[in-house]
Parts: sequence; structure tokens; C-alpha cells
Amino acid sequence: MPFLRVPPAWQLPRPHATAEASYQNRRQFLKQLVGAGIGASLIPLAGCRSGDAENPNLAATYELPSLEPLVSNDRFAGVDDRPITSQVLASQYNNFYEFGGSKNIWLAAQALPVNDWQVEVGGLVKNPQTYDLDDLKQQFDLEERLYRFRCVEAWSMVLPWVGFPMRSLLAAVEPRPDAKFVRFTSAYDADVMPGPGFHLGSLPWPYTESLRVEEMANDLAFFAVGIYGKELPKQHGAPIRAVLPWKYGFKGAKSIVKIELVAEQPKTYWHTLVPNEYGYEANVNPDQPHPRWSQARERFIGEGTTLSWEWRETLPYNGYGEFVADLYSA
Ligand code: MTE
Repeated sequence: MPFLRVPPAWQLPRPHATAEASYQNRRQFLKQLVGAGIGASLIPLAGCRSGDAENPNLAATYELPSLEPLVSNDRFAGVDDRPITSQVLASQYNNFYEFGGSKNIWLAAQALPVNDWQVEVGGLVKNPQTYDLDDLKQQFDLEERLYRFRCVEAWSMVLPWVGFPMRSLLAAVEPRPDAKFVRFTSAYDADVMPGPGFHLGSLPWPYTESLRVEEMANDLAFFAVGIYGKELPKQHGAPIRAVLPWKYGFKGAKSIVKIELVAEQPKTYWHTLVPNEYGYEANVNPDQPHPRWSQARERFIGEGTTLSWEWRETLPYNGYGEFVADLYSA
């Protein structure tokens, strides 16, 4: 596995892709968004994007301690010409429904309390652990990985995460043979998390997600504690979140407080709410449309400071088939 020392990957020269505003396409997309579910939250974003780029409070949300020395693992760096999404865009175009139902939750998410964070790892393991953040950073070698990110809503980015492979955590806690699934639980505190503000019936907080243990042990499955070389901003799911680049973004639980190995497939947040729209497996698949929109193409959000996108073909497994297709061949 090739490891490169600094400079971090986003400072390396990369092919340039022109980010073009496709206003018509965007209007069309917004018109399609009827009904409840993740996509519905895009509606309020129209017309409010460029202002935040100049907002000094936005930049303050990602002026965080650096994670150094940084080692780049370029094994998964990608096969196409997509540039790294600019931080000013990635940090103001988020899904974090605990803090609101729009993309524009970066300010609200600053209410997330992250001091004295602990992650409990237990269930069907030989060696249960409760880690604080320093334990995690010391015990597991941090590396930077450039991953494509694909939301089920058909927008995408390329993001430089910093973290460690999930398989390292599995090795530390030693799953028992009867552990077949993992459940990730996000922090939840109703006092600081007002929720999405749209009606979906009673919401199954806390946010939970799950994988099969074999998926968690795959090379690509990653816990991020940082992005763009620094600690994770709150809107991205500080201080630790899951990143699973071959799956739709909703599989990557943010602000994780509990990781449990279990025998049965657990219930998960979106699958419980809208099972026909948000399947358990949720691998990126251009040939399997979401019930309310096509997944054949995606709106890639790249460089610049004003939100715009260009259409790209969706890749099976988001381009990571060579690493994960075997998991699904049975
Ligand atoms: N985790 C929690 N706890 N709450 C959420 O609302 N949204 C998911 C995922 N993880 C979500 C979450 C969805 S739908 C997406 S697309 C990604 O986080 C968005 O991650 P980003 O905001 O860092 O781009």
C-alpha cells in the first residue's frame, strides 16, 4: 500500500474540472422534490447559497486544530478528473437532520456539544472498550483518504477525510463469531437538536445506521475524525463519523457515540422511516432509480465559492467496484 508523506493530497496538482452553474437543471430537480424523506430537505435551499461563502462565521467553523503529521493513503484516490470540492462549499451544504431540514445547517450545528466525547464499542465483542477522542487518535494510525462522496439525493463531492479504517477498530475489539452486523448510534440531545422541521410522523432518534460485519471489515470503510487536514467541523459530524464511499451518504452516521456488534440486522433511521426509498444496503447504483428520481446522473459540486454543479454519470459503487463488488457477488 503506497503511503505518501505530506503535502496533503488536496495540495497536490490535480486535474481541473470546470464547475458550471446549471440553473435549469437545478430548477428541474427542485420541482421533482415532492413528498417526505431526505430529498424534501433540499427545497428550502433555493436562493440562499452564495451569501454564506463570505460569512466569516462559516470559516470560523473549520478553523480547527490540524491533524499532523498527516499520511496520505492514495490507494483509493480515484480514477476520474474530479477536483476536490472546496471547503467553503462542503462546509455549508450538509445533511444533519438533528439540526434542521435544509442543507444550510452549519450555524445551527455549532450547538453540538463535543467536549469529553466518548465512544462506547461493545455488544458481541471479546474486548469491549470506551474510547475518548485522544485514545482513538493515539491507538489508531490516522491517514488521509480522498474519497468521492455520493448522496442519495444525487449530488456528489470529492472530500479529503482524515481518520482510520474501521477494520482497525474491529481488530482491537475482536468480534465474536455470532456478530453479524454493526450498529452506529449518533449523539442525540433534544435540548440542542430541534430536528428537521418537516413532518414525517414520529422520528426514530437517535440517528442510527448499520453495516454487515464483512462490509465494516472492507478496506474502504472508514471512521473520519478530520477533513481538509484538520479536526472535523461540527456540521460534518464532529468529532467522529462513518465514511462509506461506495454507499449513499446517509449510511455514514455522524457524531458517533456508540458502536455495537449485533447478531440481527438492526433497525436504522431512514430505513425505518421510509423503507421503500432508503434501502438497508444502499450501494450507489446508477441502474436502480430512487422512487422519486433517477440515480443515473449526479450533480457534482466542485471548486469555487458559489454553489454550482456539473452533471456527471453515476458510477456503480460510486467507482469503487474493484474494492467492494465481491461483497455482493453471492
Ligand atoms: N448522520 C446523522 N447523525 N444525522 C444526519 O442527518 N445525514 C446523512 C449522513 N449522516 C445524517 C448523518 C446524510 S443523508 C448524508 S448525505 C451525510 O451525512 C452528509 O454528510 P455531510 O453533511 O458531511 O456532507
